[in-house]
Amino acid sequence: MIEKFDAVTQDTLLNLEKTQRNFWNISRQTAEFLHNTIINEGFISGIEVGTSNGYSGVWLGKAFKSNNGKMRTIEFYEKRYSIAQANFEKCGVADIITICPGEAIKVLEYLPEDLKFDFAFVDANKRESVDYFRLIHPHLKPGGIYTCDNVLSHKEKVQTYIDAISRHPDYIHTVLDLPAGLSYARKIR
Ligand SMILES: C[S@@+](CC[C@H](N)C(=O)[O-])C[C@H]1O[C@@H](n2cnc3c(N)ncnc32)[C@H](O)[C@@H]1O
Repeated sequence: MIEKFDAVTQDTLLNLEKTQRNFWNISRQTAEFLHNTIINEGFISGIEVGTSNGYSGVWLGKAFKSNNGKMRTIEFYEKRYSIAQANFEKCGVADIITICPGEAIKVLEYLPEDLKFDFAFVDANKRESVDYFRLIHPHLKPGGIYTCDNVLSHKEKVQTYIDAISRHPDYIHTVLDLPAGLSYARKIR
């Protein structure tokens, strides 16, 4: 499915996959799944926590762009978000992706109250996953999707998050058997 992108984007993504371990990027399978979810659901506003060099951001950004949407992505490591910015420019998604530099919890705490997302993808400090969920929850629209990577590979670190979202009456939650394990939940009200 990478073939549906323009040559520069394909080339950029293939190159990024060569250094996947150095930048902790998600798997291609997970990226394709998230991309297709955004397109199929017609989502137009998203938030990502954990930009790194922008591999997942390019996939998400391409999906939001084809829906005429936009997204924000949070990263505290300047070296990584500068590389991400360059990759977003190369792949033609810099116009719809805003990088929010800083400590994820602080950035999320300062989001304007009326800012709403229909999609969230979390992939940063695993132990803080429960805090990201608590802070993003008021900004997620009913009908929206909340996702978090590494819930099988980092089971112990994300347990408090898994407990919180599984017990939350506003979410229907499941864990998808994608590489690393993807937590996937629909906000129903
Ligand atoms: C697993 S990598 C993200 C990979 C990216 N989603 C991808 O697939 O291309 C996690 C990133 O989150 C960043 N990060 C970790 N803790 C953070 C925090 N508390 N605030 C902001 N960024 C954080 C790290 O610097 C790292 O680049």
